[in-house]
Amino acid sequence: MRALTGIKPTAAPHVGNYLGMIEPALRLQATHDAYYFIADYHALTTLHDAARMRAHTREVAATWLALGLDPARTTLWVQSDVPEVTELAWFLACVTGLGFLERAHAYKAAKDAGQELGVGTFFYPVLMAADILAYDADVVPVGKDQKQHVEMARDMATFINVRFGEVLKLPTPLIREDVAVIPGLDGRKMSKSYDNTIPLFAEPKALRKLVMSIKTDSKGMEDPKDPDTCNVFALYRHFADAGQQAELAERYRAGGLGYGHAKQALFEAMEARIGPARANYHALLADPAHLDDVLAAGAQRARTLAQATLARVRAATGMNAVPRGLTV
Ligand code: ADP
Ligand code: TRP
Repeated sequence: MRALTGIKPTAAPHVGNYLGMIEPALRLQATHDAYYFIADYHALTTLHDAARMRAHTREVAATWLALGLDPARTTLWVQSDVPEVTELAWFLACVTGLGFLERAHAYKAAKDAGQELGVGTFFYPVLMAADILAYDADVVPVGKDQKQHVEMARDMATFINVRFGEVLKLPTPLIREDVAVIPGLDGRKMSKSYDNTIPLFAEPKALRKLVMSIKTDSKGMEDPKDPDTCNVFALYRHFADAGQQAELAERYRAGGLGYGHAKQALFEAMEARIGPARANYHALLADPAHLDDVLAAGAQRARTLAQATLARVRAATGMNAVPRGLTV
């Protein structure tokens, strides 16, 4: 089974990315043929700054490696190093209706927010479908918000297959239902777009400060509190083991626990999990030549798969499997 997923280099990864996608994807390495990429073409829909694009691309790569992505087993690459995906996107666009794309939640949300919309934003799900279909992915581990995009990829594969024969494999989204949506500092979904994120590798001091700023209700120290509606506890659940969770939940309900204490417990649990990878993250960032080597090897492996898919699609649609004049 091949697992494939992507993450945009629009910022250094945050705790929502980690819990919703990176950590579940890392676990799949043991059981799946894993293909993970850095979606810079997608980031380009909103990020128009070359220096930041380069920096965030390295940060995302270093994050994966620091957290345990094994490049000998898992393929890690940068989306734009396999330009075939943009070619596949064209084939998909030619069998996909405008109305179908207009139903995409992310596009609708951007439109409803009155944002100035680029064509790239509208086309986003087509390129994302190409990412998935170019590599014959079976499962796509993503956070809940991306589920519809993966389902659209599946539909687009069908649009091709019914017209041209079975050339594309149908993917399935893999959502960790227990993680759902991770709340940010203000209680809304943790997202770069809301400026409410906790960067995964924030330094301990900065991390503690951010944790201390998580929004809570105004209950006093002595009041009994409800862990199930608390933003601090919602994050704590993901960093503490079952025993620790039960214990803190009990202290919430009993009263006498201030939110400051709960936040300190969260900070310590986060630090215990993330802290050990932080030095490795900085060491990786300090060695861009090594990162480039890993990404180049990944791009080669990924590109071989994409070229095979493109050859099938090109032949099935009446074009030369390999472009004339190109020797492979
Ligand atoms: P952002 O919303 O900050 O721009 P991305 O869209 O780049 O984040 O998300 C990358 C991956 O992380 C996706 O698979 C997405 O579903 C997951 N993800 C992002 N934010 C969250 C969150 N708050 N909770 C769960 N998963 C998330
Ligand atoms: N759209 C995804 C996000 O915002 C990133 C992404 C691009 C992706 N291409 C993909 C995820 C292919 C999974 C598969 O998070």
